[in-house]
Amino acid sequence: MKQVTYKGLTFEPYLESEKIRSRVKELGAQITKDCRGKRPLLLCVLNGAFAFASDLFRSVDLPDAEISFIRLKSYEGTSSSGVVKEIMGLSEDIAGRTVIVVEDIVDTGKTIYRLVNDLKAKDPAEVKIATLLFKPESLQAPVNPEYVGFNIPSDFIIGYGLDLDGLARNLPDIWVLSKKYDD
Ligand code: IMP
Ligand code: MG
Repeated sequence: MKQVTYKGLTFEPYLESEKIRSRVKELGAQITKDCRGKRPLLLCVLNGAFAFASDLFRSVDLPDAEISFIRLKSYEGTSSSGVVKEIMGLSEDIAGRTVIVVEDIVDTGKTIYRLVNDLKAKDPAEVKIATLLFKPESLQAPVNPEYVGFNIPSDFIIGYGLDLDGLARNLPDIWVLSKKYDD
C-alpha cells in the first residue's frame, strides 16, 4: 500500500493529481460562465491555496480576470472565540468588483466567514467563495461556498498546497491521515 510519512504520521492516497486537475478545470469553466461580462478578481489566500489558485486561474477564460494574493495574520483575540484574523496584502480597490476568494479548504468555516465579512465592508459588487475542499460536517459558521472542488469527511489531509506544519505542500496528490495507526 502506497503511503507517505511526515512527523511520524502516516498518510494514505486520497485524491490523485489527475482527478484534482480535471475538477479544477470544471470549476474554472463554471467561473468563466458565471462571470462573463464581469471583471472578477480572484483573491488567493496564502499559503495553502497557492497550488489551487494557480491551476484555477489558468482555467478561467475571461480577458478581464485578475488574481491577487492575501495572507491572514492570526493572533489571539480578547474574545472567547479565540483567533482573530487580519487581512494583509490587499492593495486592490475592490469596490464594485466581483471578488472570488480562493481557499484550499473550508473546515470550521470561521476563517473564511471572517474574511468575507471584512471584504464586504470594502463595498464589492459581490463576494464568492471557491474552495478546493469542503468539510461540511465540521462547519461552524454560516458560509456556503459557491464553488467547491470536493466535499470531504472531517479527516486531516495534506498535499497540493495543504500542509502539516509547513510540510507536504509540494505533493502533487492529496493524502489523508491514516486511521490504522491511531492509538
Ligand atoms: P477553518 O477556519 O476551520 O475553516 O480553517 C481553515 C484553515 O485550517 C485552512 O485554511 C487550513 O489552513 C487549515 N486546515 C483545515 N483542515 C485542514 C486539513 O485537513 N489539512 C490541512 N490544513 C487544514
Ligand atoms: Mg488556508
